Amino acid sequence: MTGGLFITLEGGDGTGKSTQAALLEEWLTGLGRTVVRTREPGGTDAGVEIREIVLHHRGDIAPRAEALLYAADRAHHVATVVRPALARGEVVLQDRYLDSSVAYQGAGRVLDAQEIRELSLWAAEGLLPDLTILLDLDEDAARARLDASRTRYDRLEAERSDFHARVRAGYLALAEAEPERFLVVDAGRPVDEIAADIRERLAGRV
Ligand code: TYD
Repeated sequence: MTGGLFITLEGGDGTGKSTQAALLEEWLTGLGRTVVRTREPGGTDAGVEIREIVLHHRGDIAPRAEALLYAADRAHHVATVVRPALARGEVVLQDRYLDSSVAYQGAGRVLDAQEIRELSLWAAEGLLPDLTILLDLDEDAARARLDASRTRYDRLEAERSDFHARVRAGYLALAEAEPERFLVVDAGRPVDEIAADIRERLAGRV
């Protein structure tokens, strides 16, 4: 046992992941834990370049190429940031991980969800989170929040609402399949209540 803890936050765009990550980081730090706050895509220098391609490239990217770009970002990030931090006994608090790939790349209906999961697990040499917090919000509410905060959308955010409905359904199916890894919270509730639910789930483990 290393004492390291790997926590990921998942959910559609506009569900409040960053807000909850900040509150959780504050709580964990207050408990004396060292927290590495990171994200995918873009948690490393090489990853920042990959992020630029997947989010802002003009024109189409073939679905398999897109899946491989996210997997490449993940492979490098896990090897150089996540695993070393866990080995030092730290808490890794990460915005998005392999469930994002399954939910988003799988939602395009072209790629098989199981294959995407296997690709990610290969990239990450099998590393799964200890806890995955899914912030669940219906796509219209999420869209309204995004509209209020953005003047410009990235490639994924600009997808139509049926795409985002499939992403949400994909996430809920993943959570149902692995209830011991997932905590699903209704992201429409007040920020403080959500944060309290997350702390309660983690209480025995930190
Ligand atoms: P994110 O960093 O949460 O965007 P922002 O900072 O603009 O809120 O995520 C970027 C986008 O990448 C998001 O729309 C989901 C998408 N994504 C995938 O499609 N597959 C993946 O494997 C990951 C990690 C993200």
